[in-house]
Amino acid sequence: MRELVYLNGWVGSFDDAFISVNDRGFNFGDGVYEVVRVYGGIPFAMGDHLERLEFSATAIKMEMPWSKEQLEMFTMDLLDKSKIKEAMVYLQVSRGTAHRNHTFSPDIKPNLLITVRHVPEISPSMYREGVKIISQPEFRWQMCHVKSISLLASVLAKQRAADAGAAEAVFVMDDGTVTECSASNIFIYKDDALFTHPADNRILKGVTRKYVLEIARGLGIAIKVEPFSFSDMLGAAEVFFTSTIVEIMPVVKADHHIIGNGKPGQLAGRIHDAFTSLRHTGI
Ligand code: PDD
Repeated sequence: MRELVYLNGWVGSFDDAFISVNDRGFNFGDGVYEVVRVYGGIPFAMGDHLERLEFSATAIKMEMPWSKEQLEMFTMDLLDKSKIKEAMVYLQVSRGTAHRNHTFSPDIKPNLLITVRHVPEISPSMYREGVKIISQPEFRWQMCHVKSISLLASVLAKQRAADAGAAEAVFVMDDGTVTECSASNIFIYKDDALFTHPADNRILKGVTRKYVLEIARGLGIAIKVEPFSFSDMLGAAEVFFTSTIVEIMPVVKADHHIIGNGKPGQLAGRIHDAFTSLRHTGI
């Protein structure tokens, strides 16, 4: 009996299995998976698992190039080679390998990983005596302040923006509050004040955001680090988003609404100029 890995057609041991550092599963958590229990060499409810895998893939706009029959064949083959009868099968499909970019091309080929392992032991006493659990607030995924590589939601938002011919997607909560964008922070200039969402768990505390706030303060602009709504944003004189790569990007349109006079704002330009002179200071 031997625990085994199938990786894009290759079969071998866990120690010898490698994937590119550009795998989108590795970089973005951009993938889907299933876990299947095998009893006496026969997978339980394989059809249900493969159906859910297809459902998950479709839900994240990923086209799997394999049929359910092919996936079952790869799995049975691996099980056969491993000779493990009481097994845990893990199937993972990532969107594929491409240079890191939130948006994805439909041409990338998904990476398929299947592993066969022994089932972890669960003490019979736990079933006999029962177990303790703890409560947790539902915080999935309310830790946007962590620069985590679990970026699937951001990836999907950025891709929706790209599909709509837009440069970014801004997140709006149920109550209308604007938090940040898929890969940047957002600012509005309204009633002679610069607004940006407070650095709580709903946004990433952007490094660019910090310098933009410092620059704006230096320019004598009133700063309001407080939540604002999407309708506040639509009525703003200026909107811009910030990140390490785009620096300061003026927004002239959101959905079908023109922002301000439909041209990049003056303040965004002044802040960007000041930011430009910081670039080589080695801060
Ligand atoms: N993203 N908010 C989110 C969700 C981000 O992913 C980023 C940056 C920012 C801006 O942070 P900073 O100013 O420190 O770059 C805000 C990077 C650029 C990325 O994922 O590629």
